[in-house]
Amino acid sequence: MMTVLPRFKYFVSLRSLIRDLMSLSIANMNDRAEVKKFEAELCSYFNRSHCMTASSYRMCVYYYLKSLKLRPGDEVLLGPITIADLINVILILDLKPVFVDIDPQTHNICLDSLKSSKSKKSKVLIMTYLSGMVGETSEVLKLCKENEIKVIEDISQAYGSRLCEDKDPYDGDIQIGSLSSGKLISTYTGGFALTNDKLVLDLINNEIKEEISPPKIRFLSEVLTNIKINIATSKTIFPFVYLLFSFLWKFSPNSMKKLTNTKFHTRSEKYDVFFDDFPIRRKEIPMGWKTFMCSWQARVGMRYLSEISKRNKRRQELGSIFYSSLAEEVKSRIPRLALKEGFNFYHIPFSLKGDKSSELIELFNIGVDSEGYGLNFCSEEKAFDEYCKKLKGATHVKKHSVFLPLHESYSKKSMLIIAERLNRLFSEEVENV
Ligand SMILES: Cc1ncc(COP(=O)(O)O)c(C=O)c1O
Repeated sequence: MMTVLPRFKYFVSLRSLIRDLMSLSIANMNDRAEVKKFEAELCSYFNRSHCMTASSYRMCVYYYLKSLKLRPGDEVLLGPITIADLINVILILDLKPVFVDIDPQTHNICLDSLKSSKSKKSKVLIMTYLSGMVGETSEVLKLCKENEIKVIEDISQAYGSRLCEDKDPYDGDIQIGSLSSGKLISTYTGGFALTNDKLVLDLINNEIKEEISPPKIRFLSEVLTNIKINIATSKTIFPFVYLLFSFLWKFSPNSMKKLTNTKFHTRSEKYDVFFDDFPIRRKEIPMGWKTFMCSWQARVGMRYLSEISKRNKRRQELGSIFYSSLAEEVKSRIPRLALKEGFNFYHIPFSLKGDKSSELIELFNIGVDSEGYGLNFCSEEKAFDEYCKKLKGATHVKKHSVFLPLHESYSKKSMLIIAERLNRLFSEEVENV
């Protein structure tokens, strides 16, 4: 059978998912000692002294920004490819989002754009390590220090990436990550913040009030979705899904495009808007976000932590075999930072040069089911009209980047086969120009 690879696979086994499903029904959710233990393990993995957890990445950002006691109208600089609710968090706090362009070679903040976007009112920069590309940030950090701008590093996609020459990949004021499904460490929704400064953590904790226990149904829905995705992307079932996708690409391409288009229908129960990740304007923080991390989640997170180094090592081995088999023309489409040693291979960003849909079909025809960033392009979202901006680098990244899938369960042989097919596809393209 032809080797075909799904666009993304979750980093968890079906057996663990079924165990989580069973333990959920009988779990004691409110053992704070388990949560403290998980926070201590996060500190140890990321080499930080202090950690706090919350319902999500966005709520950690919210509490941190609130703890800074900024003035209304103060500015938060950020790259535009992110979750729409990050913009809502900034606006709800009466702050102003200012979008900064990103560099297609790093998918991170572009120094020149930062220089021209900052003003006296700029107090915070949020730097997102998209696709796990950490590094080349020293100039940006220096500029922020000189201008007394606090730096939040969004490390959600970068767990385990060590692309810097020095040991510690992070140098901002605080590191914040998401633990939602599909991340290298997940607790089926969740977020955490890390710092070496106890005062920072104390100030954040002062802001955390009226948090409640998350509803079990939230996790039931998440575990079931994980199980569905795990089965659909498994080695035995995915070839059939691929056949279905082939049919759709041929006879109904719009339905394939819709798979990753922004969704506006709710996945949530009436009382829990947790998953409503729409680019809409919110007036207040929804109650569903004000939930703490429960002990069942903490146990799930500790299991991910116990497996992450082994999983990352395996992907790095496969990744280096894959890279060493790629032709220079193909390699030149991978951003510089993703080619460096220490990259976590969360997935491999890859730049298309022509029309995205037709190139996605070409990739699909050689067995690579692929897609680009599902995160919103917030500098062009109608909901945030008055902050919208044309940003050249970000437009290129959003419109032309797709991901080559990589997962620790793939065989070396399948990586070599895919590399060979990519080489053939793109060298044919060069010949045809
Ligand atoms: C880079 C990045 N930041 C933030 C998030 C979302 O964070 P949360 O849903 O935990 O608020 C995601 C998740 O998709 C992400 O990829």
